[in-house]
Amino acid sequence: MAPSGISLNKPAAITILVLVAGGVIMYRWGWSSPHSSAAETDISNAGSKKGNADIKPPDGKKIALPSELPLTLTDSKMSKEIDVNKLPDFPLSPDINATAIKMITIDVKVKDKTLKINSRQTGPAESPTLTVLLLHGQAFTSQDWIRTLRLLASWGYKAVAIDLPDFGKSKAESLGDASEEEFMTALVGTLGSAPVIVSPSMSGRFSLPYLFSDRSDSEQRAAAFIPVAPVMTDKFKANYPKSQVPTLIVYGTEDKNLGTKSRADLQALPKAQIAPIPGAGHACYMDKPDLFRNVLHYFLTSLTK
Ligand SMILES: *[C@@H]1O[C@H](CO)[C@@H](O)[C@H](O)[C@H]1NC(C)=O
Repeated sequence: MAPSGISLNKPAAITILVLVAGGVIMYRWGWSSPHSSAAETDISNAGSKKGNADIKPPDGKKIALPSELPLTLTDSKMSKEIDVNKLPDFPLSPDINATAIKMITIDVKVKDKTLKINSRQTGPAESPTLTVLLLHGQAFTSQDWIRTLRLLASWGYKAVAIDLPDFGKSKAESLGDASEEEFMTALVGTLGSAPVIVSPSMSGRFSLPYLFSDRSDSEQRAAAFIPVAPVMTDKFKANYPKSQVPTLIVYGTEDKNLGTKSRADLQALPKAQIAPIPGAGHACYMDKPDLFRNVLHYFLTSLTK
């Protein structure tokens, strides 16, 4: 009795699955149209990702369900705001604290000198899916990223946090007559591939001229950009509309100064999504570290799909 019941229901079940998947795909296409008003809720479906990921059709091929499709950020006028409270929790492996972090001095040759830049690095050395370069704010160093470095490695990424010249264990190094842009160009040149750049606060002095000063090739200079309420965002406004670099604008909702200002300026980037961290101040990655990491995990995953 049971076997005949299953064979009768199978085609019906497949038909329903196809119809539902098709309907959701069309719904999402609708959201990315220029006059859509529902764009800002797009990310709220991300929570269903895990539950759906492994549903397989009878022939064994994996279906690309709607929540697994890459984000389409085609409308240059549209900024997508992520509801951070609805993101799934990032994966946490139980032996996370055993992940080794290496202190590596990077020789950054800029102008006619070599700066000895301290870095903390982890993750696969050979062909990682992405390299994430973490800069830091005025009151911080690479040390403040240790747990994030370990998580990034556990998610499969190479992660490099540096002490910027004049900070932390790079305290003795100074740019001299080299510019921040020249420094960043030389630093990224040592990494082997264009990284995702995480840039909080003061480090905007480095990341923003590197990506946006008189250039329209930012998408070749970084795989993606994660500005976290950086300084100097008003300096490069003219160049943002020309950039195709995938960007995640992160800031704390209580950061009424740089948070608000950087969001207003940076949302001119055509491929920007916006992730306001509720209840967090300027150093939102310190105030709400797990919400920040959910955002980070969500965005990095969307880049590699
Ligand atoms: C790892 O270390 C952190 C910080 O010391 C601690 O809060 C956490 O419980 C430890 N274990 C895991 C699995 O995160």
